[in-house]
Amino acid sequence: MDLVIWEWVSFAARWLHVVTAIAWIGSSFYFVALDLGLRKAAEAPAGVGGEAWQVHGGGFYHIQKYMVAPARMPEELTWFKWESYGTWLSGFFLMGVVYYLGADLLLVDRAVLDMSPTVAIIVSLVALASGWIVYDLLCKSPIGEDETKLGIAVYLLLVAEAWALTHVFSGRGAFVHIGAIIATIMTANVFLIIIPNQKKVVAALIAGQTPDPALGKQAKQRSTHNNYLTLPVVFLMLSGHYPLAFATRWNWLIVALVIIAGASIRHWFNTMHKHEKPPIWTWIVAALCFLAIVALSTIPAVQTPGKAAALKPDPALAARLASPHFTAARDIVVSRCSMCHAQEPVWAGIAVAPKGVMLDTDERIAAHAREIALHSVRTRAMPPGNVTDLGDDERRQLAIWIASAK
Ligand code: HEC
Repeated sequence: MDLVIWEWVSFAARWLHVVTAIAWIGSSFYFVALDLGLRKAAEAPAGVGGEAWQVHGGGFYHIQKYMVAPARMPEELTWFKWESYGTWLSGFFLMGVVYYLGADLLLVDRAVLDMSPTVAIIVSLVALASGWIVYDLLCKSPIGEDETKLGIAVYLLLVAEAWALTHVFSGRGAFVHIGAIIATIMTANVFLIIIPNQKKVVAALIAGQTPDPALGKQAKQRSTHNNYLTLPVVFLMLSGHYPLAFATRWNWLIVALVIIAGASIRHWFNTMHKHEKPPIWTWIVAALCFLAIVALSTIPAVQTPGKAAALKPDPALAARLASPHFTAARDIVVSRCSMCHAQEPVWAGIAVAPKGVMLDTDERIAAHAREIALHSVRTRAMPPGNVTDLGDDERRQLAIWIASAK
């Protein structure tokens, strides 16, 4: 039963996470575009530096930006922060449900580094916290005074983290962590820098003082980083469904290229929003990065026999293999699934094992017992369209095997 409950908890958290992320990125893209597109106001109240006219949903909007603040603070001020906090909180919860509870399968890859699920979870928490700490120190260091130097330093930091994480976690676990580190930096920018700075500015104005311009400058710098990091994060969050991205040999280089591609695409839009001629080179860079990613992903992820042989035996796996019901279950999986789910699939139109799920050796079948239960016993998701005629008696046989090795 808990399989069903956790599956739904996970789906609900994912739904919430995607919805809050849409709200966050939506409002943040909107404000960046609005800000860049402001034009000089002709007849405007004192303090207004730019304005825009927009049409949406049957009405016209006349937006004016007060560069520092209006002479009198309005009664009500709308803040934009819960979109960001909600995205981080639901994302962290989802990380727990999917990657911490499933750490043995999704985070730990014993061919990469042999560690227990508990150690993997500790490494994950340390990676998330330290990613922010190092980034924040970089921004506050002398390098932070030069936008270009800082951009390069942050980029190198993220690439180094990608390299390190792919040498600690499974490819899929590493990718979601690089995404989560960047997303944590983005939310911490909102929570620890942008909103507190804005609050200080508001407090100074209410007290009749002139706010420190450094506060606004710092907030703007962090907000610009958030903007350029958005597209890479979305790619990394989706990449878990695409083994060619996360489970190939040069996966960390793929991350390095995705950050460049995503940031270049944002740059095109940002320039366009300024009503300037957008630079074509950004699309050329993005396309070249993408082509390089495709090429890198075709280099096979060969595992050296030395490393594979050195793996320690896993007791849960051993129990599934030793079950008296294993042979019957294996024969079913081999005859109904492995034409698609193999190192070299033989099913027409399937070039690589779908979702990286390989069911072609005794060990691989035993390692995927949980997925087999979910996709072929609990549900009829697999085989797709029941193309290989997996019968109900066979599904029952699979269930008997999985239950026998609990
Ligand atoms: C005709 C080819 C084919 C056969 C046969 C097949 N699968 Fe799949 N399988 C796929 C495809 C395609 C996907 C990816 C589906 C998607 O994109 O959501 C997939 C995905 C999966 C996944 C991963 C799902 C996820 O979302 O992570 C599992 C687990 C799986 N199959 C198990 C099985 C099992 C068990 C069998 C045999 C009972 C089986 N499959 C038979 C093609 C096949």
